[in-house]
Amino acid sequence: MTRTTCAPHHEDGTTPPAARYDAVVEAAVQQGLLGESDPVAGFIDTEGVRASVGNLHDAFAATPRVLHTFAAKACSLIPVLRLLADCGMGCEVASPGELRLALEAGFPASRIVLDSPAKTREEIRLALALGVAVNADSLDELRRIDALRNPSTASVLGLRVNPQVGGGSIGPMSTATDTSKFGVALRDPGAREAIVEAFRERPWLTRLHAHVGSQGCPLELIAAGVARSHELAEEINATLGVRQVTSLDIGGGLPVNFADETVHPTYADYVAALTAAAPGLFSGRYALVTEFGRSLLAKNGFIGARVEYTKDAGGRRIALTHAGAQTATRTVLMPDAWPLRIGAFGPDGAPKDGPLLAQDIAGPCCFAGDVVAYGSQLPELAEDDVVVLYDTGAYYFSTPWAYNSLPRPAVYGFRVAGPTGAVTFATVREPQSLDSIAAESGLAHVDALMERDR
Ligand SMILES: Cc1ncc(COP(=O)(O)O)c(C=O)c1O
Repeated sequence: MTRTTCAPHHEDGTTPPAARYDAVVEAAVQQGLLGESDPVAGFIDTEGVRASVGNLHDAFAATPRVLHTFAAKACSLIPVLRLLADCGMGCEVASPGELRLALEAGFPASRIVLDSPAKTREEIRLALALGVAVNADSLDELRRIDALRNPSTASVLGLRVNPQVGGGSIGPMSTATDTSKFGVALRDPGAREAIVEAFRERPWLTRLHAHVGSQGCPLELIAAGVARSHELAEEINATLGVRQVTSLDIGGGLPVNFADETVHPTYADYVAALTAAAPGLFSGRYALVTEFGRSLLAKNGFIGARVEYTKDAGGRRIALTHAGAQTATRTVLMPDAWPLRIGAFGPDGAPKDGPLLAQDIAGPCCFAGDVVAYGSQLPELAEDDVVVLYDTGAYYFSTPWAYNSLPRPAVYGFRVAGPTGAVTFATVREPQSLDSIAAESGLAHVDALMERDR
């Protein structure tokens, strides 16, 4: 695969203004990617992704040895993963499916890290055979690795710790609470000693891993967790009298600003927070691994969806669109934690203007809470209009929910040519067909339950 330079732009910390995507929405409608038969689709800004990766690399440029991996869960689409591999990223995977996607995308095993909390023996065996790095989630998992490991494995092996520095504003995204399910709880009685012992018994165990949480965790909290992991590495090495811990996997979790177009905090802010909390981290004594997901993709993608109908109910205007819980699952289930900015466009894809009206933007799913935005102030929407859900490049259309047997929406990458402004699209994922839905729903076994005792 050829590597291309991912030169950053947007140095002022901003994503391209929504207006830049106006032409993309219009082109998508004009080119028939959004219409009656395909009423919802996801879109990815290819150059924007390259720019975000460039910003990440720039922020860590002074660090001698760092592997930036992309958390595959944030956008589990093979062409996107291949784009990221081409930008020089590695890949963090958390399931056999994600490992398969990473390999299909062309990541070499040496740039893949496996992190899941419930790895089976089969998964561990495969990772070790491939030479994929593995972060054990518990001391029990380390014992499994003892039994499965071939001394010649190329896999870097690590242990995930929970630094127990506390949670952020979204409980389910906070992985460093006292009772989190992830890693070895570092401050529990006896845990520190047990971890040091685990390293003493296993000279091949050379990495510590911590991921404090994702959206909602302030930089200072994430940095405090990384600092705890760095201190532990120093303690292990001092106690064992040998520099056995040689790398630190510091996880991902840089929060994304969903309120407007500004990118903040930036990767540079994050490096500054890490430097303040753990000055020794960038000394070069430890190789670093990062695992960012949302911060690389969220602002580089959006969902476009048609308005099928509008109605009034109890004094409230509601637009019934095709973007709901099947593609904006977290927003629908936890609307306060995951608010989205919405844009309004006409049937021809041109931006709408006119007086603003408070409108609920509802989806197609058959439950009352299937609303992606309440009381959005937008020009009045009408049948056949298009709404855009901004900042949805990570964990939205790439992570659909099969509720109501709604199809997985198509995903397109796009580029905007410089002076001409021409928009070109590339298919990343076809819209799911009804045949595919039927097949997934047991069509091949249609009579399986019809047997009776005669
Ligand atoms: C272990 C691990 N690493 C990295 C990430 C990516 O986090 P984010 O997308 O917030 O950067 C996650 C997210 O859940 C994770 O669990």
